[in-house]
Amino acid sequence: MSAPIKAPVGAPFARIMGIGSYRPSRVITNEDICQTIDSSDEWIRERSGIIERRWAEPDENVVTMGAAAAQKALAGAGITADQIDTIIVATCTHPYQTPSAASEIADLMGVPTAAAMDVSAACAGFAYGLAMAQDMVRGGSAGHVLLIGAEKLSEWTDKHDRSTAFIFADGAGAVIVGPSDSPAISPVVWGGDGAQLQAINMTQNWIEFRDNGYDAFPAISMNGQQVFRWAVSEMARVCRESLDRAGITADQLDAFIPHQANNRITDALIRALDLPAHVPVARDIITTGNTSAASIPLAMDRMLEAGQIPHGGNALLVGFGAGLVFASQVVKIP
Ligand code: UT7
Repeated sequence: MSAPIKAPVGAPFARIMGIGSYRPSRVITNEDICQTIDSSDEWIRERSGIIERRWAEPDENVVTMGAAAAQKALAGAGITADQIDTIIVATCTHPYQTPSAASEIADLMGVPTAAAMDVSAACAGFAYGLAMAQDMVRGGSAGHVLLIGAEKLSEWTDKHDRSTAFIFADGAGAVIVGPSDSPAISPVVWGGDGAQLQAINMTQNWIEFRDNGYDAFPAISMNGQQVFRWAVSEMARVCRESLDRAGITADQLDAFIPHQANNRITDALIRALDLPAHVPVARDIITTGNTSAASIPLAMDRMLEAGQIPHGGNALLVGFGAGLVFASQVVKIP
């Protein structure tokens, strides 16, 4: 018989220890957007809730924005960079398949020996990464995970495409996931609908990019109505299942932080969940736009900064997007 080998030993539970975010300073108004598409400030506000969004400068990207958010998350968690042993970056707008944005961030932050990888789950990426980070901490393969959602969607959006130009934007949010004595991240509810693969993709629509070194690269194209219908009908079920798996009811929530896709999707989910009026709801999309994998941590950080949500409270998260894929969990607010 071969010699027995040891199994990994993890922490009893995992929690979000700290959070940080980075918003580019360049504000793009709806009027700016209407320079390249036939639309109006009124239509964009009414149909999406967006009044303005942030676009990164040429020298800002997934790596620089992600690292800036990460530094703040570290400070919030009260740990130093050398205590991070794993880095996960959720993104769909890092321009290279390899090396990963996570490896670049590891180097930039002075932790080149950390395990590093990117996760491609579009707007569900942060919630996917959170599920993986919790399993790693509990499974014993990581001590402290730096999880980042970062996007530079402005670079992958055709500014002349009326169905996407007004919605997507840039930014980054980061959390540190580490050990906990009590449950602080509920079981994930996740999945997808691959039959709707074409609803959002980066292959149908190529854009020329003149000034950043690429000859051409794919832009996001989206069947907005199709995604909207799916989000409204399916995400209510997913959120209910997530609450069930966390063992709480909607009235025991201290925050609802859905992916900031469209304020009307958020409104529909509130109605479907019968969310009590006292539960604060993320509305970061109004001034931030849809930042895909970055939207949930950006929104959570803003709500914390504004004193809208309590440390230690219960927040229901749900991410959904291209794939189509989704993920949801309840977390204790750091
Ligand atoms: O984050 C990843 C997941 N993504 C999402 O969750 C996005 C989900 N989808 C949406 O948020 C919405 O579908 C959009 C905000 C993208 C679009 O809103 P909509 O209410 O679904 O618009 P629509 O495509 O149904 O178009 C309604 C009308 C049409 O005109 P008619 O046929 O009623 O005369 C469009 O031609 O609005 C017109 N339209 C526009 N008008 C002004 C479409 N785009 C625009 C525009 N400006 N940009």
